[in-house]
Amino acid sequence: MGPRLIIVSNRVAVPDTPRAPLAGGMAVAVKAALKNRRGMWFGWSGKVAEESVGEPQAVEVNKINYVLVDLSKNDIQEYYNGLANSVLWPILHYRVDLQEYSRADASGYLRVNRMFADRLSPLLRDDDVIWVHDYHLMVLGRELRARGHRNTIGFFLHTPCAPPDILQALPHHRAILGGLAHYDLVGFQTENDRDNFAHYLVSQGATQTRTGYEFEGQKVRLGAFPVSIETKAYMRLARNAGRSAMVSLVRESLSGNRLVLGVDRLDYSKGIPDRIKAFERLLENNPEWRGRVTLLQVTPKSRSEIRQYGEIETEVTGLIGKVNGRFGDAAWTPIRYVNRSYSRTVLAGLYRAADVGMVTPLRDGMNLVAKEYVAAQNPDDPGVLVLSQFAGAAKELDGALIVNPHETDAVAAALKRALEMPLEERRERHAPMLDHLLENDIKKWAEDYLATLVGAQPARSLLAGIRALFGGQSDQAPLALR
Ligand code: F6P
Repeated sequence: MGPRLIIVSNRVAVPDTPRAPLAGGMAVAVKAALKNRRGMWFGWSGKVAEESVGEPQAVEVNKINYVLVDLSKNDIQEYYNGLANSVLWPILHYRVDLQEYSRADASGYLRVNRMFADRLSPLLRDDDVIWVHDYHLMVLGRELRARGHRNTIGFFLHTPCAPPDILQALPHHRAILGGLAHYDLVGFQTENDRDNFAHYLVSQGATQTRTGYEFEGQKVRLGAFPVSIETKAYMRLARNAGRSAMVSLVRESLSGNRLVLGVDRLDYSKGIPDRIKAFERLLENNPEWRGRVTLLQVTPKSRSEIRQYGEIETEVTGLIGKVNGRFGDAAWTPIRYVNRSYSRTVLAGLYRAADVGMVTPLRDGMNLVAKEYVAAQNPDDPGVLVLSQFAGAAKELDGALIVNPHETDAVAAALKRALEMPLEERRERHAPMLDHLLENDIKKWAEDYLATLVGAQPARSLLAGIRALFGGQSDQAPLALR
């Protein structure tokens, strides 16, 4: 029996629970990593309790073991709404101007990381491989080490990582970001993110070793592992979903209009106002497209208790109202805006039905909507992806029309080009992107990361164990350092 894989993240995607994460992003990636592997997924239950001192609850759903802890109101306020999402999230997305730091929130963040370590610690076996996800839990590795765990522990950052000057705007940054040095391997979405963190460590006095960095007595390796999707399964899903009743209804309601689709959490990092302005510019500059194209913006609300999220909502609704009022008429609404989330199946069908997928974040770790849009297309008649140069996905999806989301005219021009692109060019752009996603799918991401993680501690038993984690299928040697 090989080692177990223990996944730890703030949000845990237990199916059919009230606060299960939105489709996409970290949840999908982690679920795929656990598929067919022994282990568990540990994290927040999504419940708010009076006090966060209860015993963790274990549940098994679809052969995945979940172990869940509750958080108190105070925890949510200081750790989740506070340091994680009002400080770390804006800073990691290059928005120093939006951070709202308080000492209470910082100590709440450290307290919840300690609480996670206290609850997880008794459940661990010596040979477990532990994989911690995302910015909520940067210091969990240090807390586990302080409790005597010598396991292989890795961390993956799903967000971007800003350059050192920006990271240093976080008060007491060494106490939080320095926590990452206690992991054996820290994974990033792109080489740019990895290099930013490496430069940060060096700026704080780290020295480069043969395999990684040494910081305050800790040895850590860094790598780039672009997260992906279950490409084949997604293609199948979209093929079937394209024929679903819901998608037919949407198509009928468009009365032959072309469909431009945006799917994003309501978050300032997603560049939704800039996208609406670009769509407005398209209509302004190209009267022939008025009445012939519809932008469907699917935007589930997110982190609504945080001030900046309330503000972005007001801005987006105002802008959409302005465009619809200015260009719409009794028979045509230029922008349809929905604040709800759809099932994976309906979303896949909408991606397939859309002539243009608009993924134009101001900054994004990866953006799996871009990858899902490509996988969902009919290869014989694919739509066109308009993609921000600031999404991690732009490093891989070079068949997209790559845009700077800050340049309204250029995004409007790309949109027009996408709507008018001949079939042959659409195919030529789509085919290599699909091939890339078939080769670099979510399974490969998890295997690459885990093989490199275990390679970080080259004990023979662990290497044998990791092969068992892959169901005995993989005879792949740990990857070379990146
Ligand atoms: O790292 C970003 C991320 O984890 C995404 O993968 C996911 O879509 C989002 O954040 C979820 O945010 P929250 O848990 O705050 O709803």
